[in-house]
Amino acid sequence: MSVEASGGEASELRDDPSATASRPLPPGPASPAASEASPPPTLRPATEADLDAIWAIESAVFGAEAWSRDLMRDELTADLRCYLVLVDEARAIVGYGGLLAVGTEGDIQTIALSPKARGAGQGRRLMNALLDAADERGVREVFLEVRADNPVARTLYASLGFEEIGVRPRYYQPDNVDAVVNKLQMENRR
Ligand SMILES: CC(C)(COP(=O)(O)OP(=O)(O)OC[C@H]1O[C@@H](n2cnc3c(N)ncnc32)[C@H](O)[C@@H]1OP(=O)(O)O)[C@@H](O)C(=O)NCCC(=O)NCCS
Repeated sequence: MSVEASGGEASELRDDPSATASRPLPPGPASPAASEASPPPTLRPATEADLDAIWAIESAVFGAEAWSRDLMRDELTADLRCYLVLVDEARAIVGYGGLLAVGTEGDIQTIALSPKARGAGQGRRLMNALLDAADERGVREVFLEVRADNPVARTLYASLGFEEIGVRPRYYQPDNVDAVVNKLQMENRR
């Protein structure tokens, strides 16, 4: 996660107890960053009208492994799916994720955030919303596959209670990277 230092005179004074004692901070926001912080994105169900924005993120994030636009449209409109989007204050879609729920079995089909939206808890929020949707549909076991060389996603899934149960060798082409199969028993959800 990248956190930029806000810097500036006020934060230097806060870091120096003797300075704050002799020279109080002026009234106003605690720091420049606090007054400029964006509100968190909103979360809502995806519709076919979101296809262009979702596919723009999909193709930028996954490159050669990205789903085709037609496949993405099929996913957004097919039965048994639940797709959600994160929308920022400018109404731009900054993330999406999808669940397939068939009986008691669910699959996280995909999840991706645009780079600027990452590392602020929104991926976890989106995953939790998809798992809530799975729970509401009576799903008891959720599966997903993740690239072996994706430590951020693997750590997130483990923290939610997923277990790594197998490997599909060289599943991701053309990179020749293994897929790690994850399973969550809903009673083990954290
Ligand atoms: C994977 C992804 C959805 C996670 O979303 P995110 O918003 O970046 O992650 P969050 O801020 O919610 O963090 C969730 C957890 O991920 C892990 N994590 C996040 N950023 C990390 C980093 N830079 N390094 C290591 N772990 C990190 C941490 O375990 C974190 O939990 P914590 O903050 O409680 O410690 C997002 O990074 C993404 O879209 N990546 C590209 C697409 C992708 O890999 N999709 C998954 C395909 S299976």
